[in-house]
Amino acid sequence: MEAVHGHDHSHDHHHPTGLTRWLMTTNHKDIGTLYLWFSFAMFITGGLLALGIRAELFKPGMQLWQPEFFNQLTTMHGLIMVFGAIMPAFVGFANWQIPLMIGASDMAFARMNNFSFWLLPPAAALLVTSFFVPGGATGAGWTLYAPLSVQQGMGMDLAIFAVHIMGASSIMGSINIITTILNMRAPGMTLMKMPLFVWTWLITAYLLIAVMPVLAGAVTMLLTDRHFDTHFFNAAGGGDPVLYQHVFWFFGHPEVYIMILPAFGIVSQVIPAFARKPLFGYASMVYATASIAILSFIVWAHHMFVVGMPAAGQLFFMYATMLIAVPTGVKVFNWVATMWKGSMTFETPMLFSVGFLFVFSMGGFTGLVCAITPIDIQIQDTYYVVAHFHYVLVAGSLFALFSGTYFWLPKWTGHMYDEKLGKLHFWCSMIFFNLTFFVMHFLGLAGMPRRVPDYATQFADFNMIASIGAFGFGLSQLIFLWCVIKCIKGGEKAPAKPWEGADSLEWTLPSPAPYHSFETPPIVK
Ligand code: CU
Repeated sequence: MEAVHGHDHSHDHHHPTGLTRWLMTTNHKDIGTLYLWFSFAMFITGGLLALGIRAELFKPGMQLWQPEFFNQLTTMHGLIMVFGAIMPAFVGFANWQIPLMIGASDMAFARMNNFSFWLLPPAAALLVTSFFVPGGATGAGWTLYAPLSVQQGMGMDLAIFAVHIMGASSIMGSINIITTILNMRAPGMTLMKMPLFVWTWLITAYLLIAVMPVLAGAVTMLLTDRHFDTHFFNAAGGGDPVLYQHVFWFFGHPEVYIMILPAFGIVSQVIPAFARKPLFGYASMVYATASIAILSFIVWAHHMFVVGMPAAGQLFFMYATMLIAVPTGVKVFNWVATMWKGSMTFETPMLFSVGFLFVFSMGGFTGLVCAITPIDIQIQDTYYVVAHFHYVLVAGSLFALFSGTYFWLPKWTGHMYDEKLGKLHFWCSMIFFNLTFFVMHFLGLAGMPRRVPDYATQFADFNMIASIGAFGFGLSQLIFLWCVIKCIKGGEKAPAKPWEGADSLEWTLPSPAPYHSFETPPIVK
């Protein structure tokens, strides 16, 4: 502990307060906190849009919204959850945890870090205010497919601008993360000694730098098609709308892994801590993560099986997609092997991680189903796909984010959270999540199309169940908010090391971690 003593607050002259603290901050923990609260606000916003969707679908017939507005709800729900909620939440974790976990004093480019964050609120404002411009927000789906997206009103332009800004933010964040990890590790912290969360973020940051410019290219071509008479996606002008899909999904599939690899990282920190055993197969975890990232670049057209591609293409993209199950299986095996014969306890972080294992694996299996070309052609654009990716993104990414939040809340706030509330939050989330999304598999297999505000009466029962589940899930998140606020405001004082089996570097610091990071880097043996 000698080498890792914190800074004494009473003698600290450089600690700004009030609004300036948050606007001007270059401290990785403050910026991490900003990212986390921003993503939570977006999570609530995107969640309210989802409830708008589920309210309309509670029963057949048109109840609440015009069809155009319904399409805007689905589109903005997707864009806000992906770019506003999930991705910034993981960047918030990266900011808080990576410097603490590798023994760095801060992020490498502290001012750029501030800029990366403060780009996000204006981007979110563009997205949200697009509901109020003539024609409303874009209703082209979060994928913004041409030719519809070429024809829509100015809400589409705001979305394009927002995507550009969020992309710039992501790229700067990634440069910061990679530079921090490669240049600022404490002596002794070799790459293969890094905690797995750091490894997954290093790989994710490379993915982001590789594909965010591709998305920027796609929406820029969209912009010039819309306003400057280019014809990239216009068949009459020698272009091709399918080109948009290729470019979009060359970004879009790796994006899926951008949203799940850091989740793998969190789960890989949490499970060993509560199994009281070191992570099984550390090196294979690193290689599996890298394999998933590399494979993610050669599977994009599995989103496009119905555009009319040659059988050789269908076969290639089907088998390449299935190949990803191999490294993913390695990971699931390692997590289970970590728990095997461990002396396990089930505090809230562990509940969310074990819950993640169950329900995320379910999303993985339905992903394999979707990968099979002839089946995919049947279930394309149905609720089966909606069920599949919500198992991946809610039970996968979101549950891991909850797991990590409860795991590190004692470190972040200096207080223990209320375990009873945490467990209540877990069980409510788990039950209502499955109520909402499990039945969507049946709806999809029975042929209910997605992104449609009305449906045939044979789908009524499952839709009613899904809508009840969705409102229950939404309300359950108030428990989370209450639990977090309670923890910030007070509660039992957290010891520096609240979890017995947690052994990564950040737990050698007092709780909360001092405002200034290490005065001198700790020595890692
Ligand atoms: Cu994909």
